[in-house]
Amino acid sequence: MKLFLDTANIEEIRTAWSWGAIEGVTTNPSLVAKEGRPFKEIVREICEIVNPGDISAEVVSLDAEGMIREAREVASWHPNIVVKIPMTKEGMKAVRALSQEGIRCNVTLVFTLAQAFLAAKAGAYYISNFVGRVDDISSEGMDAVRDTVNMIKEYGFKSQVLVASVRHPMHVIEALRAGAHACTVPFKVLEQLYQHPLTDIGIQRFLADWEKSGAKIFG
Ligand code: G3P
Repeated sequence: MKLFLDTANIEEIRTAWSWGAIEGVTTNPSLVAKEGRPFKEIVREICEIVNPGDISAEVVSLDAEGMIREAREVASWHPNIVVKIPMTKEGMKAVRALSQEGIRCNVTLVFTLAQAFLAAKAGAYYISNFVGRVDDISSEGMDAVRDTVNMIKEYGFKSQVLVASVRHPMHVIEALRAGAHACTVPFKVLEQLYQHPLTDIGIQRFLADWEKSGAKIFG
């Protein structure tokens, strides 16, 4: 499973890349707006840091013609860009046209198997199944992920399931168990994936015993 960082914050991206933890970055209009920098500048900087890697950047038009125009512009900024298109009728019209001209699309704001099915039929490169926002309203967000993975296997679609809207490490674990192709996580969740109190306790015990023994690596 590919792990992406869900942010437009350059420092978080540099840090996660230095850990060798990620194979890409996903952004969205809210994440980009938070950084207060020109969209093209920030996306191109992300593409230079995380390379090789898939970098998702989202269009903001709501009509197919406008989405296609914006997608062509965004895709021209770097070969690693995957264009994010929302799961709407106009969006799928745009995905169909863009995928036929070789522009990879990440269909976002997908919540149901039906939406994922339509995204796959349109030629989505990634299907971003949002889980956290479904959990936030007391439902089981991961159900649609499992169904989508099964659908793609059953019918031989080429689209990849990208688990998005991740709130905690268990979403990542469940994405792995579901056989998702990718999962995009906030920096905070990435940090949590490394942590376990028994690891910390174990390191302390090793070092205490080492100190007592007087053993050395050098000299
Ligand atoms: O960026 C796509 C998705 O991961 C954002 O989800 O619910 O954290 O805004 P959310």
